[in-house]
Amino acid sequence: MTQNNPILTDDFGRKHNYLRISLIEKCNLRCTYCMPAEGIALSPKKDLMTADEVFAIAQTFVQHGVNKIRLTGGEPLLRKDFPEIIEKLAQLETEISITTNGILIDRHLDVLKQFNVKKINLSLDTLVPSKFNTITLRNQFEKVIDNLHLLLNNDFKVKVNVVLIKGFNDNEIIDFIKLTEYLPVSIRFIEFMPFAGNQWDRSKMVSQTEILNQVSVHFSESNLEKLQDEKNFTAREFKIKNYLGSFGIISSITNPFCDGCNRIRLTANGKIKNCLFSNSETDLLTPYRNGEKLENIIAAAIRNKKKVRAGMTTPEAVDNPLLNQDNRSMIAIGG
Ligand code: 5AD
Ligand code: SF4
Repeated sequence: MTQNNPILTDDFGRKHNYLRISLIEKCNLRCTYCMPAEGIALSPKKDLMTADEVFAIAQTFVQHGVNKIRLTGGEPLLRKDFPEIIEKLAQLETEISITTNGILIDRHLDVLKQFNVKKINLSLDTLVPSKFNTITLRNQFEKVIDNLHLLLNNDFKVKVNVVLIKGFNDNEIIDFIKLTEYLPVSIRFIEFMPFAGNQWDRSKMVSQTEILNQVSVHFSESNLEKLQDEKNFTAREFKIKNYLGSFGIISSITNPFCDGCNRIRLTANGKIKNCLFSNSETDLLTPYRNGEKLENIIAAAIRNKKKVRAGMTTPEAVDNPLLNQDNRSMIAIGG
Protein backbone atom coordinates (compact mmCIF):
# COMPACT_ATOMS: atom_id res chain seq x y z
CA MET A 1 0.00 0.00 0.00
CA THR A 2 1.34 3.44 -0.93
CA GLN A 3 0.23 5.50 2.07
CA ASN A 4 -0.44 9.16 1.39
CA ASN A 5 0.20 8.78 -2.27
CA PRO A 6 -0.04 12.19 -3.95
CA ILE A 7 -3.23 11.35 -5.82
CA LEU A 8 -5.17 11.85 -2.59
CA THR A 9 -3.34 15.02 -1.56
CA ASP A 10 -4.77 18.34 -2.69
CA ASP A 11 -3.10 21.66 -3.47
CA PHE A 12 -3.48 22.76 0.14
CA GLY A 13 -1.61 19.72 1.42
CA ARG A 14 -4.72 17.99 2.75
CA LYS A 15 -4.40 14.20 2.67
CA HIS A 16 -7.67 12.43 2.02
CA ASN A 17 -7.57 9.20 3.99
CA TYR A 18 -11.27 9.05 4.84
CA LEU A 19 -13.77 7.82 2.26
CA ARG A 20 -17.50 8.18 2.88
CA ILE A 21 -19.53 5.92 0.63
CA SER A 22 -23.25 6.44 0.16
CA LEU A 23 -24.82 3.04 -0.53
CA ILE A 24 -28.36 4.07 -1.36
CA GLU A 25 -30.47 7.15 -2.10
CA LYS A 26 -33.54 5.84 -0.29
CA CYS A 27 -34.47 6.20 3.34
CA ASN A 28 -37.16 4.85 5.64
CA LEU A 29 -37.51 8.30 7.25
CA ARG A 30 -38.26 11.65 5.62
CA CYS A 31 -36.33 14.15 7.74
CA THR A 32 -37.47 17.47 6.38
CA TYR A 33 -34.01 19.07 6.51
CA CYS A 34 -32.59 16.21 4.44
CA MET A 35 -35.27 15.09 2.02
CA PRO A 36 -37.20 17.63 -0.08
CA ALA A 37 -40.99 17.37 0.45
CA GLU A 38 -41.50 16.44 -3.20
CA GLY A 39 -38.93 13.63 -2.94
CA ILE A 40 -35.94 13.35 -5.26
CA ALA A 41 -35.48 11.75 -8.65
CA LEU A 42 -33.86 8.43 -7.82
CA SER A 43 -31.07 7.08 -9.99
CA PRO A 44 -32.12 4.04 -12.00
CA LYS A 45 -30.94 0.86 -10.27
CA LYS A 46 -28.49 0.05 -13.06
CA ASP A 47 -26.68 3.32 -12.31
CA LEU A 48 -26.03 2.41 -8.67
CA MET A 49 -22.85 0.67 -7.61
CA THR A 50 -23.25 -3.04 -6.98
CA ALA A 51 -21.61 -4.63 -3.94
CA ASP A 52 -18.68 -5.70 -6.12
CA GLU A 53 -18.29 -2.22 -7.55
CA VAL A 54 -18.39 -0.64 -4.11
CA PHE A 55 -15.61 -2.99 -3.12
CA ALA A 56 -13.48 -2.46 -6.23
CA ILE A 57 -13.70 1.33 -6.13
CA ALA A 58 -13.07 1.40 -2.37
CA GLN A 59 -10.07 -0.84 -2.90
CA THR A 60 -8.53 1.66 -5.31
CA PHE A 61 -8.83 4.37 -2.67
CA VAL A 62 -7.37 2.11 0.00
CA GLN A 63 -4.41 1.33 -2.26
CA HIS A 64 -3.70 5.05 -2.30
CA GLY A 65 -3.93 5.74 1.40
CA VAL A 66 -7.56 5.63 2.55
CA ASN A 67 -7.71 3.92 5.94
CA LYS A 68 -11.18 4.90 7.11
CA ILE A 69 -14.44 4.15 5.37
CA ARG A 70 -17.88 5.27 6.49
CA LEU A 71 -21.04 3.91 4.90
CA THR A 72 -23.93 6.32 4.59
CA GLY A 73 -27.10 6.70 2.55
CA GLY A 74 -30.01 7.57 2.51
CA GLU A 75 -30.19 4.80 5.03
CA PRO A 76 -27.34 2.34 4.38
CA LEU A 77 -29.00 -0.51 6.29
CA LEU A 78 -31.82 -0.49 3.74
CA ARG A 79 -29.49 -2.03 1.15
CA LYS A 80 -30.58 -5.65 0.87
CA ASP A 81 -26.97 -6.64 0.25
CA PHE A 82 -25.62 -4.67 3.23
CA PRO A 83 -24.15 -7.81 4.88
CA GLU A 84 -22.41 -8.75 1.63
CA ILE A 85 -20.98 -5.24 1.24
CA ILE A 86 -19.63 -5.24 4.79
CA GLU A 87 -18.14 -8.67 4.37
CA LYS A 88 -16.32 -7.58 1.22
CA LEU A 89 -15.09 -4.28 2.64
CA ALA A 90 -13.83 -6.04 5.75
CA GLN A 91 -11.16 -7.64 3.54
CA LEU A 92 -9.65 -4.19 3.03
CA GLU A 93 -8.56 -4.00 6.65
CA THR A 94 -9.56 -0.37 7.08
CA GLU A 95 -11.72 1.00 9.83
CA ILE A 96 -15.37 0.76 8.78
CA SER A 97 -18.15 2.77 10.37
CA ILE A 98 -21.72 3.67 9.49
CA THR A 99 -24.13 6.57 9.78
CA THR A 100 -27.67 5.34 10.29
CA ASN A 101 -31.07 6.42 11.52
CA GLY A 102 -31.03 3.35 13.75
CA ILE A 103 -34.29 1.75 12.68
CA LEU A 104 -32.73 -1.43 11.30
CA ILE A 105 -29.87 -1.78 13.76
CA ASP A 106 -31.33 -4.80 15.59
CA ARG A 107 -31.61 -6.64 12.29
CA HIS A 108 -27.96 -6.06 11.44
CA LEU A 109 -26.35 -6.19 14.87
CA ASP A 110 -24.68 -9.55 14.33
CA VAL A 111 -23.15 -8.57 11.03
CA LEU A 112 -21.83 -5.32 12.48
CA LYS A 113 -20.21 -7.24 15.32
CA GLN A 114 -18.89 -9.99 13.10
CA PHE A 115 -17.08 -7.56 10.82
CA ASN A 116 -15.87 -5.25 13.53
CA VAL A 117 -17.94 -2.20 12.68
CA LYS A 118 -17.63 -0.45 16.03
CA LYS A 119 -18.37 3.19 15.39
CA ILE A 120 -21.95 4.13 14.72
CA ASN A 121 -23.33 7.60 14.13
CA LEU A 122 -27.04 7.59 14.83
CA SER A 123 -29.35 10.43 13.79
CA LEU A 124 -31.82 11.51 16.45
CA ASP A 125 -33.02 15.09 16.52
CA THR A 126 -35.44 15.06 19.43
CA LEU A 127 -36.20 13.21 22.64
CA VAL A 128 -39.92 13.95 22.34
CA PRO A 129 -41.83 11.21 20.46
CA SER A 130 -44.38 13.53 18.83
CA LYS A 131 -41.64 15.84 17.60
CA PHE A 132 -39.82 12.85 16.14
CA ASN A 133 -42.88 12.23 13.98
CA THR A 134 -42.95 15.90 12.94
CA ILE A 135 -39.35 15.99 11.78
CA THR A 136 -39.04 12.50 10.26
CA LEU A 137 -42.67 12.11 9.12
CA ARG A 138 -42.55 8.57 10.48
CA ASN A 139 -43.58 6.99 13.76
CA GLN A 140 -40.36 5.22 14.76
CA PHE A 141 -39.13 7.00 17.87
CA GLU A 142 -39.26 3.99 20.17
CA LYS A 143 -37.50 1.74 17.73
CA VAL A 144 -34.63 4.19 17.43
CA ILE A 145 -34.34 4.63 21.21
CA ASP A 146 -34.40 0.85 21.75
CA ASN A 147 -31.69 0.41 19.14
CA LEU A 148 -29.59 3.18 20.66
CA HIS A 149 -29.61 1.25 23.95
CA LEU A 150 -28.96 -2.01 22.13
CA LEU A 151 -25.82 -0.50 20.60
CA LEU A 152 -24.60 0.91 23.90
CA ASN A 153 -25.26 -2.38 25.70
CA ASN A 154 -23.16 -4.10 23.07
CA ASP A 155 -20.25 -1.70 23.53
CA PHE A 156 -20.48 0.11 20.23
CA LYS A 157 -19.03 3.62 20.15
CA VAL A 158 -22.07 5.73 19.43
CA LYS A 159 -22.34 9.35 18.38
CA VAL A 160 -25.83 10.81 18.21
CA ASN A 161 -26.26 13.40 15.44
CA VAL A 162 -28.68 16.20 16.31
CA VAL A 163 -29.39 18.74 13.58
CA LEU A 164 -30.53 21.84 15.47
CA ILE A 165 -33.34 23.93 14.03
CA LYS A 166 -34.45 27.14 15.72
CA GLY A 167 -37.86 26.85 17.34
CA PHE A 168 -37.92 23.09 16.84
CA ASN A 169 -35.29 21.45 19.02
CA ASP A 170 -33.05 24.24 20.34
CA ASN A 171 -34.94 23.84 23.62
CA GLU A 172 -33.61 20.25 23.89
CA ILE A 173 -29.89 20.99 23.91
CA ILE A 174 -29.69 20.64 27.68
CA ASP A 175 -31.82 17.45 27.70
CA PHE A 176 -29.53 15.86 25.14
CA ILE A 177 -26.46 16.75 27.20
CA LYS A 178 -28.12 15.34 30.31
CA LEU A 179 -28.21 11.99 28.53
CA THR A 180 -24.42 12.00 28.70
CA GLU A 181 -24.45 11.96 32.49
CA TYR A 182 -24.97 8.20 32.60
CA LEU A 183 -24.67 7.08 28.98
CA PRO A 184 -21.26 6.69 27.33
CA VAL A 185 -22.43 8.49 24.26
CA SER A 186 -21.27 11.54 22.35
CA ILE A 187 -23.99 13.97 21.29
CA ARG A 188 -23.10 16.01 18.22
CA PHE A 189 -25.03 19.17 17.63
CA ILE A 190 -24.95 20.05 13.95
CA GLU A 191 -25.57 23.49 12.51
CA PHE A 192 -28.39 23.21 9.98
CA MET A 193 -26.88 23.36 6.48
CA PRO A 194 -28.42 24.34 3.14
CA PHE A 195 -29.05 21.68 0.50
CA ALA A 196 -31.37 21.56 -2.49
CA GLY A 197 -35.00 21.73 -1.43
CA ASN A 198 -34.52 21.88 2.34
CA GLN A 199 -35.81 25.44 2.89
CA TRP A 200 -32.71 26.53 4.69
CA ASP A 201 -32.28 30.03 5.85
CA ARG A 202 -29.79 31.35 8.32
CA SER A 203 -32.46 32.34 10.83
CA LYS A 204 -33.34 28.65 11.32
CA MET A 205 -29.79 27.75 12.21
CA VAL A 206 -28.60 27.43 15.82
CA SER A 207 -24.98 28.54 15.97
CA GLN A 208 -22.08 27.18 17.96
CA THR A 209 -22.03 30.39 20.03
CA GLU A 210 -25.69 30.01 20.91
CA ILE A 211 -25.26 26.37 21.91
CA LEU A 212 -22.31 27.15 24.16
CA ASN A 213 -24.20 30.06 25.74
CA GLN A 214 -27.10 27.81 26.67
CA VAL A 215 -24.71 25.21 28.06
CA SER A 216 -22.74 27.70 30.17
CA VAL A 217 -25.89 29.23 31.60
CA HIS A 218 -27.36 25.85 32.53
CA PHE A 219 -24.32 23.92 33.73
CA SER A 220 -22.10 26.92 34.62
CA GLU A 221 -18.87 27.76 32.86
CA SER A 222 -16.75 25.95 35.45
CA ASN A 223 -18.43 22.61 34.71
CA LEU A 224 -17.85 22.86 30.98
CA GLU A 225 -14.64 21.13 29.90
CA LYS A 226 -13.09 21.59 26.47
CA LEU A 227 -11.76 18.25 25.23
CA GLN A 228 -8.95 17.72 22.76
CA ASP A 229 -10.43 17.73 19.25
CA GLU A 230 -9.75 14.70 17.10
CA LYS A 231 -7.24 15.00 14.30
CA ASN A 232 -9.15 16.12 11.17
CA PHE A 233 -12.09 16.95 13.43
CA THR A 234 -15.51 18.06 12.33
CA ALA A 235 -16.90 18.39 15.87
CA ARG A 236 -15.34 20.59 18.50
CA GLU A 237 -15.59 18.40 21.59
CA PHE A 238 -16.71 19.25 25.12
CA LYS A 239 -18.02 17.52 28.20
CA ILE A 240 -19.67 18.31 31.47
CA LYS A 241 -17.42 17.57 34.41
CA ASN A 242 -17.91 14.05 35.81
CA TYR A 243 -20.35 13.04 33.07
CA LEU A 244 -19.73 9.73 31.35
CA GLY A 245 -20.31 10.92 27.81
CA SER A 246 -19.44 14.07 25.93
CA PHE A 247 -20.80 16.40 23.29
CA GLY A 248 -19.51 18.12 20.21
CA ILE A 249 -20.55 20.91 17.90
CA ILE A 250 -20.30 20.68 14.13
CA SER A 251 -20.29 24.27 12.97
CA SER A 252 -19.90 24.08 9.20
CA ILE A 253 -21.70 27.39 8.82
CA THR A 254 -20.32 29.68 11.51
CA ASN A 255 -16.94 28.11 12.12
CA PRO A 256 -15.87 25.78 9.31
CA PHE A 257 -13.12 23.22 9.75
CA CYS A 258 -12.02 22.86 6.16
CA ASP A 259 -8.29 23.28 6.91
CA GLY A 260 -8.08 19.78 8.31
CA CYS A 261 -10.49 18.13 5.91
CA ASN A 262 -9.49 14.56 5.05
CA ARG A 263 -12.86 13.51 3.66
CA ILE A 264 -13.87 12.47 0.19
CA ARG A 265 -17.33 11.28 -0.74
CA LEU A 266 -18.55 8.67 -3.17
CA THR A 267 -22.24 8.81 -4.06
CA ALA A 268 -24.38 5.71 -4.52
CA ASN A 269 -24.20 6.21 -8.27
CA GLY A 270 -20.45 6.22 -8.17
CA LYS A 271 -19.55 9.89 -8.33
CA ILE A 272 -16.88 11.60 -6.31
CA LYS A 273 -17.87 14.70 -4.41
CA ASN A 274 -14.74 16.42 -3.18
CA CYS A 275 -16.73 18.53 -0.70
CA LEU A 276 -20.13 18.28 0.97
CA PHE A 277 -20.97 21.73 -0.41
CA SER A 278 -19.69 21.14 -3.90
CA ASN A 279 -22.03 20.68 -6.84
CA SER A 280 -19.32 19.43 -9.13
CA GLU A 281 -19.14 15.68 -9.25
CA THR A 282 -16.75 13.33 -10.95
CA ASP A 283 -18.04 10.07 -12.35
CA LEU A 284 -15.98 7.02 -11.37
CA LEU A 285 -18.50 4.29 -12.00
CA THR A 286 -18.77 4.74 -15.77
CA PRO A 287 -14.99 4.71 -16.30
CA TYR A 288 -14.75 1.75 -13.94
CA ARG A 289 -17.33 -0.14 -16.00
CA ASN A 290 -15.39 0.76 -19.14
CA GLY A 291 -12.31 -0.81 -17.68
CA GLU A 292 -10.43 2.48 -17.34
CA LYS A 293 -7.92 3.16 -14.61
CA LEU A 294 -9.36 5.44 -11.95
CA GLU A 295 -6.22 7.04 -10.51
CA ASN A 296 -5.97 10.03 -12.84
CA ILE A 297 -9.67 10.77 -12.50
CA ILE A 298 -9.47 10.64 -8.72
CA ALA A 299 -6.37 12.84 -8.70
CA ALA A 300 -8.11 15.47 -10.83
CA ALA A 301 -11.17 15.50 -8.58
CA ILE A 302 -9.02 15.99 -5.49
CA ARG A 303 -7.00 18.72 -7.17
CA ASN A 304 -10.22 20.66 -7.87
CA LYS A 305 -11.14 20.79 -4.22
CA LYS A 306 -11.53 24.35 -2.94
CA LYS A 307 -9.93 25.61 0.26
CA VAL A 308 -13.20 26.29 2.09
CA ARG A 309 -16.78 24.95 1.57
CA ALA A 310 -16.53 24.48 -2.19
CA GLY A 311 -15.54 28.12 -2.59
CA MET A 312 -18.32 29.54 -0.38
CA THR A 313 -15.88 31.39 1.82
CA THR A 314 -18.15 34.15 3.12
CA PRO A 315 -21.48 34.10 4.98
CA GLU A 316 -22.99 35.92 1.98
CA ALA A 317 -22.00 33.06 -0.32
CA VAL A 318 -23.53 30.49 2.04
CA ASP A 319 -26.73 32.53 2.16
CA ASN A 320 -26.99 32.82 -1.62
CA PRO A 321 -29.67 30.39 -2.87
CA LEU A 322 -28.03 30.36 -6.30
CA LEU A 323 -25.00 28.80 -4.68
CA ASN A 324 -26.41 26.86 -1.76
CA GLN A 325 -29.33 25.22 -3.56
CA ASP A 326 -27.27 24.17 -6.54
CA ASN A 327 -26.19 20.95 -4.88
CA ARG A 328 -27.72 17.53 -4.34
CA SER A 329 -30.13 17.03 -1.48
CA MET A 330 -28.51 15.54 1.59
CA ILE A 331 -30.50 12.32 1.14
CA ALA A 332 -28.34 11.63 -1.93
CA ILE A 333 -25.07 12.72 -0.36
CA GLY A 334 -25.20 10.93 2.94
CA GLY A 335 -23.70 13.49 5.29
N1 5AD B 1 -27.83 20.04 7.86
C1 5AD B 1 -27.01 19.42 8.74
N2 5AD B 1 -26.91 18.09 8.85
C2 5AD B 1 -27.68 17.35 8.06
N3 5AD B 1 -27.82 16.01 7.98
C3 5AD B 1 -28.74 15.75 7.02
N4 5AD B 1 -29.21 16.90 6.49
C4 5AD B 1 -28.56 17.91 7.13
C5 5AD B 1 -28.62 19.33 7.05
N5 5AD B 1 -29.41 19.96 6.20
C6 5AD B 1 -27.08 15.04 8.77
C7 5AD B 1 -27.95 14.31 9.76
C8 5AD B 1 -27.67 12.89 9.55
C9 5AD B 1 -26.53 12.84 8.59
C10 5AD B 1 -26.68 11.75 7.60
O1 5AD B 1 -26.54 14.07 7.92
O2 5AD B 1 -27.52 14.57 11.06
O3 5AD B 1 -27.28 12.27 10.74
FE1 SF4 C 1 -33.01 9.47 6.30
FE2 SF4 C 1 -30.92 10.39 7.62
FE3 SF4 C 1 -31.98 11.86 5.73
FE4 SF4 C 1 -33.33 11.44 7.98
S1 SF4 C 1 -31.34 12.53 7.77
S2 SF4 C 1 -34.18 11.28 5.90
S3 SF4 C 1 -32.74 9.42 8.50
S4 SF4 C 1 -30.97 9.92 5.46
